[in-house]
Amino acid sequence: MNFWKQISQRWKYFTGTLFYLGFAPHAYLYSLKRDRIEQQFPPPQSDEAFDNPGKLIRAEKSSRGAYFYFERAELEVYFLTADLVRLAWRPGIPPVPYAIARHQWPEVETNLDEAEDSYSVSSDTFKVIVGINGSVKFCDATGQIVREEMPPQRKAEGWIHQALLRQEENIYGLGERAFPLNLRNPKDGRLEAQYRMWNYDAAGMYGVGSDPMYLCIPVYWGMHQQGSYLVFYENSYEATFTLGDMATADFEGGSLRYYVTCGTPTQLLERYTELTGRAPLPPRWALGYHQSHWGYRTEEAVRAEARSFEEHNLPLSAIHLDIDVQVGFRAFTIDPDRFPKLPSFTKELLKQGVRFIAIMNPGIKYSRHSNLFLEGQLLEAFCRLPNGKLATGPVWPGWCVFPDFTNPVVRQWWSRQYEYLLDVGVSGFWHDMNEPAAFILWGDRSLPKPTQHYMEGRGGDHREAHNLYGFLQAKAGYESLSHHRPHQRPFIVSRAGWAGLQRYGWTWTGDIECSWEAMRITVSTVVGLGLSGIPYSGPDTGGFQGNPSAELYTRWFQMSSFLTFFRTHSSNNVSHRAPWSYGEPYLSIMRQFLQLRYRLMPYFYTLAWEASRKGYPPVRPVFWSDSEDSRLWDVDDAFLLGNSLLVCPIFEAEVRSRNFLLPKGHWYNFWDDALLEGSQQVNLEAPLEQIPLLVKAGTILPMEEAKQLILHLYPPVQGNSVGWMYGDAGDGYGESRFDVFRIVLFEEGLDLTWEQEGDFAFPYQSVKVHLHGFESQQAWIDGEEVAVSGNRLECGTFEKIYFRRRSENAVAWVEE
Ligand code: GLC
Repeated sequence: MNFWKQISQRWKYFTGTLFYLGFAPHAYLYSLKRDRIEQQFPPPQSDEAFDNPGKLIRAEKSSRGAYFYFERAELEVYFLTADLVRLAWRPGIPPVPYAIARHQWPEVETNLDEAEDSYSVSSDTFKVIVGINGSVKFCDATGQIVREEMPPQRKAEGWIHQALLRQEENIYGLGERAFPLNLRNPKDGRLEAQYRMWNYDAAGMYGVGSDPMYLCIPVYWGMHQQGSYLVFYENSYEATFTLGDMATADFEGGSLRYYVTCGTPTQLLERYTELTGRAPLPPRWALGYHQSHWGYRTEEAVRAEARSFEEHNLPLSAIHLDIDVQVGFRAFTIDPDRFPKLPSFTKELLKQGVRFIAIMNPGIKYSRHSNLFLEGQLLEAFCRLPNGKLATGPVWPGWCVFPDFTNPVVRQWWSRQYEYLLDVGVSGFWHDMNEPAAFILWGDRSLPKPTQHYMEGRGGDHREAHNLYGFLQAKAGYESLSHHRPHQRPFIVSRAGWAGLQRYGWTWTGDIECSWEAMRITVSTVVGLGLSGIPYSGPDTGGFQGNPSAELYTRWFQMSSFLTFFRTHSSNNVSHRAPWSYGEPYLSIMRQFLQLRYRLMPYFYTLAWEASRKGYPPVRPVFWSDSEDSRLWDVDDAFLLGNSLLVCPIFEAEVRSRNFLLPKGHWYNFWDDALLEGSQQVNLEAPLEQIPLLVKAGTILPMEEAKQLILHLYPPVQGNSVGWMYGDAGDGYGESRFDVFRIVLFEEGLDLTWEQEGDFAFPYQSVKVHLHGFESQQAWIDGEEVAVSGNRLECGTFEKIYFRRRSENAVAWVEE
């Protein structure tokens, strides 16, 4: 690095540190004040504590299950579907059902049977066995026990709930975690792993093993030799989950109300997202590349950034504007002096295909000079302490008050504020600091726990509302965008959230440090979020805090090209970072990956459609391809993009090849078409310009380039295969289409058929079929003979193409 660059980096770091130090006195005062309030208003205590529910007195059948009356507690077992059941223990105030998207379910037939020391409530496919001591077992359709729970314990407030874990059992989920994918194996020598449920601001930087994170969800999957199940606790209170011989969920408050389902990975996610909702189809542009930096202060800086992308021939879909574009870091502001012609500027950007995304923090400056503060005051919109005083805390604008998003009137008021920003051309919003975060010198980084919340009218405090805060802000934002721009799909990316956030927003993995380890853990974090129902997420590419080496940024960029949310972002005290920052050869490599990302857009978009219909995250764990192969259960240094692409990033400096376990089936090397047999360890080259990328045999991979659709055919080794492509206008709620492609393989060639469904007109000007691992010179398009050149065939739409295999190159017939 040259001398001046070093000086500029140090200066940035110094001024950045000063910037943070400026908040220290407020943080000190706040920490004192928070502690005092928490002492003054301790949590309520009930006298309902018990170690076990006592003996079963009576069981009673209900229309969808049964009621069980114990000496000290009651349990309701309620089937929502034949394989999804809710268990609710009383006492305890039921939750406000924020997480639940579906409230009406078709009828299910259930039976209640008595045995010697238990009862069983069953549907056709799922059985819940309730012991007379309050233990509960869950059996799948074959009668195998998939989960065993101990009788629950009631604390003075809250519950302890334990389930046995089998020796080989893996646990996934719990929302956002900076741990290995299998949460039971923290790989740091501990026998028990502990995870806290309390959305938490990492405040500038976190690394591997940091806990809790910004977005906690009390949902987990258990996977063992007898099958897999998912359990979701509908309880937003702070909790600690301990995973050792048992999975212990220890809640600080609320009721014990949870949902259990069992089945294959796809079934688990289908059920969970049927319950908590699925991510709506995003606007297509959002699947492109986003550029961000805490440091674009002016219109000119943003214009220059967009221009640089154009000059470097790098596609770009959005630029994110951080707090430094605001007036005094205040919510819903953009400084008119520094952005003097915002409406025409956003139009200018849009012409280049670049959207303007604005940051939005929930804290409102506590000042009579702030209109928002005055309006909110009149509306009684802000959270208060039990003594009636406003709950205040320091955040970027200084001392702030916090809207109570658990009040529908407040959500509506908040929703209205987005309107003028939409009018000046802002395309989407980046919700930050919404755990909610406050600056502290010690203790918890949020509002005092006794802070009061409306909770849709029934009342509650921050212990219950904290984890819901970001989720409800996203709900308000989403509803605002849907209302004010009904013909466009909302785009919101939220740092915090809870179960069901997927209905309203995407997320990113926050202020991750800039290191190889941090990059590697991103895979587990993003995959784990997907298994927790949230399909759209990604890291700050290159890390938030710190300056990555050229190689680290390049490798991180290569990996992020295959994640749903692909954004470079960096802190205000580090160097500006973009694909050209390190010159050549890095720029060309990143351009290649960026262009590949855009070429893959039809595939990404089809996966997004699938996520909206079935809840499957586009980015999947490797075990998704074969959950019966237990060797894959722990794999978290690679991931699947859909079922067709296996992405194996490089996580170490100077590494130029890597080993990995290929799932069953056959796989083509994306870079040279070599066909590899699965279920074995392979070693593949990874020169700086590549990371191992495999395509599953049988894939019909739709790609696009300059108005041309390119169908990449990776024929199955044997038999037939099918591929889909979803299409529409890319935004709005108009017509759509669905293209179904099928390969039928014969000894002397293959048929490619195409069925078109839906009313949306075919959006491409031409079509190219590109054959991989299959040599052909001759083809018949709908019966007409044509020549194939270099395994590529240019054509228009068709119903059937027959490709004759080039005889001298006939490939040996491999048996699956
Ligand atoms: C938080 C965010 C980060 C953002 C910064 C300034 O640290 O996580 O992404 O750049 O605040 O707004």
